[in-house]
This record gives sequence, structure tokens and C-alpha cells, in this order.
Amino acid sequence: MSPRLVSEFRSRFAASGMTEDLIRDFQNEVMEFYETKGRHDMEWRLRFDPYRIVVSEVMLQQTQVPRVAVMYPVFIEKFPDFASLAAAPQAELLAAWQGMGYNRRALNLQKLAVRVQEEFGGILPEDPKTLATLPGIGPATSCSIAAFAFNRPVVFIETNIRRVFIHYFFSDTAVVDDRDLFPLVEACLLPGRTREWYWALMDLGTALKTSVPNPNRRSRQYVKQSTFDGSDRQIRGALLRLLLNGDAEDAETLAKAAGASHDRVSRILEEMCREGFFVQEEGGAYRIR
Ligand code: ADE
Repeated sequence: MSPRLVSEFRSRFAASGMTEDLIRDFQNEVMEFYETKGRHDMEWRLRFDPYRIVVSEVMLQQTQVPRVAVMYPVFIEKFPDFASLAAAPQAELLAAWQGMGYNRRALNLQKLAVRVQEEFGGILPEDPKTLATLPGIGPATSCSIAAFAFNRPVVFIETNIRRVFIHYFFSDTAVVDDRDLFPLVEACLLPGRTREWYWALMDLGTALKTSVPNPNRRSRQYVKQSTFDGSDRQIRGALLRLLLNGDAEDAETLAKAAGASHDRVSRILEEMCREGFFVQEEGGAYRIR
């Protein structure tokens, strides 16, 4: 990964496109990194049970690896399969998701489990197009699930994969669109070893985050995560914690406890009722649904 080598990848690509030689050299570079410096002990890489892969991929969409590494085994022990997740009381599900953030993912994951049970006889479909019709599963996650659960040679881009391809092939380009990257991702797939290939790209992409100035800042698709402090997201998390830990409360009490205005908290409570987190009781108090 010396600077000379990286610029060599870029200039060979600029001169002749993705030749077979270049593909092979790049694959060797990535796999060599993976063999020596890859993360081989992550629990979601040890078993390919489709349920486990779905849970881990949804968790990893928006939560950092070290946190998922702690939460994932606990969650799997509590809800070991689609059937147990589909049948879980909502308060138990949301309690098990605490600390992960973006809690809508937990509700979607349960809806997904119900769909798998009711529509697919408890068996996760393998086709990414069908997977993408499930709640909370976008185009990239549908493919990452197909890759990791079924070793399907699908083409997808997420933040770490994007970082690798921009770093190696577009190191002198100001703005890179994912549309420029997809053909490269497709050309470089490692036949029969889709799982390992994407693990390797993700690990290399993660390592690049700390070793070079973030190549993704040059991506048209790059979005910086917004500040948490004082955000609606923070208040949503606080309201959920309050109602998970206590009884039903009215908007005024919740606003005081969450340290935000009554108007703002009322608006967020309504939003969270519509999304299925809470219900409002006759007397006006809110509780977990
Ligand atoms: N291993 C398998 N899936 C992963 C992901 N989405 N992020 C990081 N490592 C992974």
C-alpha cells in the first residue's frame, strides 16, 4: 500500500482501463491485505445462517463495528431466529436494541421477520430484488445479504468499498460518482469467493479511514453524519429510554425529563406514534406499543 503503488493503479487504469492484469494485481493487493490484516474474528463472519446475516447487516448499516460486536451476540441469544424475533413483544425488542441507535431499524427488522415467516415459510429469499422489498432493506443491504448469506456474486457499494475504489483508481479525481465505480466493482469480483472478497474490501476500506485523508469526501454520494447533540435523534433516543424504563407519561412530564420544549417533544411523540414506537392512552399518556 505504498503511495507509489497506489498511483500506479490509478495511472494504469487511466491509461488502459480495467485490464485483466490490473484486475489480478488489484485482487492480489486486496486479498494480501485481508490475509495479513483482515478482521477474521468477527462473529457475523463465522456463520452464514441467513437470519444472523440479516441481523448483522442491518446493525452494521449505521452502527460502528466495535459496538455491534458487543450487542450482536446478546441480541442473537435473545432472538435466535426469524420466528422468535417475529413473536417478540415490542418493549423487549426495543430494549435489546438500546445502545445501537436509529431505533426504527429494530421495528423494521421485526416486520421483516414477520414477512419471512408469513410469506416465505420462514426461509429468507436469496434474490436481492426480492430482499429489497423487505422493510429496512435498501439496494446495498439486499446485496450485502445475498453476498454474505449466499455467496452470490452481486455488485454493491457501501462506504468502505467506495473508499477503496476511489483511493486506488480515482486518486486524482475531484468528484467521483458511484456510477463510475459500479463497473469497476463488477469487473473485480473474485469468482466463487464473493464473501471473502467483500470482507476484504470492507476491512481495507476501514483501514484506509485512518491511514489516508478520507477518499470518500470526493464522492458525490458522501454524506457526513449530522451532529447528535441537540438533534431530534437525541430526543427520540431519550424519549424511548424514558418510556422503556418507566410507566406511561404525558408529554409535559416527558418534555421536562428530556430537557426539550413541550412543542418539540409533542411533535416528536406524534411522529413516533405514527412510526409504531408508542401509543397514546385515553388520558393522554404515552407508552411503548
Ligand atoms: N462484515 C460483514 N458485513 C460487514 C459490514 N457490513 N461491515 C463491516 N464488516 C462486515
